[in-house]
Amino acid sequence: MREINGRTRTCGLIGNPVAHTLSPLIHNTLAAELMQELVYVPFLVDQGRLNEAIAGAWALHIQGLNVTVPYKSEVIPLLSRVDTLAEKIGAVNTLVRCEDGYVGYNTDMTGLQRAMESDGVQISGRDVILLGAGGAARAVAFLCAYAGAERVWLLNRTIERARQVADEVNRAFERECILPLTLTDYSRIPDGKYLAIQGTSAGLYPNTEQAAIEDGAFYEMVHTGYDLIYKPADTRFMKLVRAHGGKAYNGLKMLAYQAIHAFELWNGVKVSEAQAAGILEKLKKETEI
Ligand code: ATR
Repeated sequence: MREINGRTRTCGLIGNPVAHTLSPLIHNTLAAELMQELVYVPFLVDQGRLNEAIAGAWALHIQGLNVTVPYKSEVIPLLSRVDTLAEKIGAVNTLVRCEDGYVGYNTDMTGLQRAMESDGVQISGRDVILLGAGGAARAVAFLCAYAGAERVWLLNRTIERARQVADEVNRAFERECILPLTLTDYSRIPDGKYLAIQGTSAGLYPNTEQAAIEDGAFYEMVHTGYDLIYKPADTRFMKLVRAHGGKAYNGLKMLAYQAIHAFELWNGVKVSEAQAAGILEKLKKETEI
């Protein structure tokens, strides 16, 4: 344990529940490694008391906060400013103290982008397949449009939801970038090899035997599969991607980089690739089933 003294700054997580978070492990490890006088703690915020929590954090000079379920959208009106991508998504997970209040960011998505970059995966100028249209996939659809994807084939079990997300994103970026389809309609995607991002909850522990799509013909179209799930570490989607010759990654790096980006914003430092790799190793051990 590092020494806590009069100069120690506090950051933390607000949400409900917060008990199972891995964020304290990540941020306190980073603080020790980068010699920042900072501690990170979970704060449980009861429903209906978010205003008080933000006002209290401000009054206590809390340097930064992560925000998790159910407050990622509800917190926005309480901020002094919101970063462009986070504003388009309508969800923030990181607050940074500035002169007149907290500024909101969505490092879940910048984290995903950085994780993919570090694996050599590009979105800009590319055609992408995205599975899912729930909260997580919706944010990825915004990221893809923001990061300059050419076209995104958005496949979801319920077509209505896919259409809704497509309309919302296309309107926000004023271009027909997102193309909605049902899961079974993947044959309408032009022949080729694609990056596929898996944003459904199919395959999430304990339902580890599930994948949103089982057909081998779909996986023949995938050169790289990126699953947002990290528990289990090797999902059925990832196994199917590899079985058809593609590379597959799980969501653990995204988790690491969402925290790393938040840490950089709070401390004005840059976390090196080697330090990021150290965090990833720690997370791997922590999430082993
Ligand atoms: P999250 O916040 O994790 O995104 P969510 O908003 O409940 O969770 O969304 C879950 C997503 O996974 C949806 O896209 C859902 O598809 P529907 O919109 O048709 O419900 C998808 N999903 C969940 N279980 C699935 C399954 N067994 N097969 C295919 N898609 C599934």
